[in-house]
Amino acid sequence: MRDNTTVNSIEAALMQRFGEEFKIDSGLQGLDALKRIAGHRSQRRFLPRPLEGGVLRLLCACALSAPSKSDLQQCDIVIVNDSAIRKGIAATIPDMPWIEDAPAFLVFVGNGQRLPAVSGLRDKPFPNDHLDAFFNATVDAAIVLATFVCAATAVGLGCCPISAIRDRPDVISELLRLPKRCVPVAGLCVGWPAQEGEITPRLPLQTTLIENAYGERDLAVEIDAYDRRRSALRPYQRQRNVERWGASPLYGWSEDKARQYAEPTRGDFGRFVRAKGFCLD
Ligand SMILES: Cc1cc2nc3c(=O)[nH]c(=O)nc-3n(C[C@H](O)[C@H](O)[C@H](O)COP(=O)(O)O)c2cc1C
Repeated sequence: MRDNTTVNSIEAALMQRFGEEFKIDSGLQGLDALKRIAGHRSQRRFLPRPLEGGVLRLLCACALSAPSKSDLQQCDIVIVNDSAIRKGIAATIPDMPWIEDAPAFLVFVGNGQRLPAVSGLRDKPFPNDHLDAFFNATVDAAIVLATFVCAATAVGLGCCPISAIRDRPDVISELLRLPKRCVPVAGLCVGWPAQEGEITPRLPLQTTLIENAYGERDLAVEIDAYDRRRSALRPYQRQRNVERWGASPLYGWSEDKARQYAEPTRGDFGRFVRAKGFCLD
């Protein structure tokens, strides 16, 4: 049966996201799932409604069903339901009140401890103590996080990932008693959304979708066009660090990201990861 409402909704979402017209075959399977994925939006406001028993565990199980590098299974999820621990985490990030407000808060951990422990248990050497070990564990954690967001969205929940837990990884590590070679990749606020939320326009596929091999491109032109399209749809409500940079009449995505990354952040994260026992060479 043709489902034009779903098709229209995906086409509208992708137009808003990329500024590109898609013509979608209404006979395609899984259009409901594509509609949820294309319509993605992070949620930072939640209803004061708890998650019904079991749903969080169900979503974690679905998320941990994601593909895993070499079947190494190097992601753990910490469900933070102790309010003192949650407050301790939120206190490190005072400008994000949604961390304390969300009905549920999770931390996705890259666990590089189990694999060398398994080698030890089986009396084998572990000559792979280098950057790739850290990379594999964090990539696994990121994939599980993304899968959790998809699963949560499917049941009508909203999420907001929180990389700001890496602002004070030492505090997070102590609060969660993270073992050696276990690093917090991101937190995640989860709850029933209090508002619909808005689609955030992304860079055009012309910029981020490459056929076969990278070629010459005019990044300045592409970014300029994106800034203008995005500003027309979702202008920034506030400019960063006006004291340092002044108020810009054309404040777009590129100005915002350039200002954001003009401030040093997480310069000691590498030291934290090394102190946790990872070798980054
Ligand atoms: C790994 C990761 C970390 C993020 N960290 C934060 C964060 O610390 N605080 C926050 O409010 N949003 C955070 N976000 C949400 C992004 O700001 C959001 O995805 C982005 O602005 C695009 O908006 P959208 O998700 O609604 O499309 C994070 C997203 C990802 C994927």
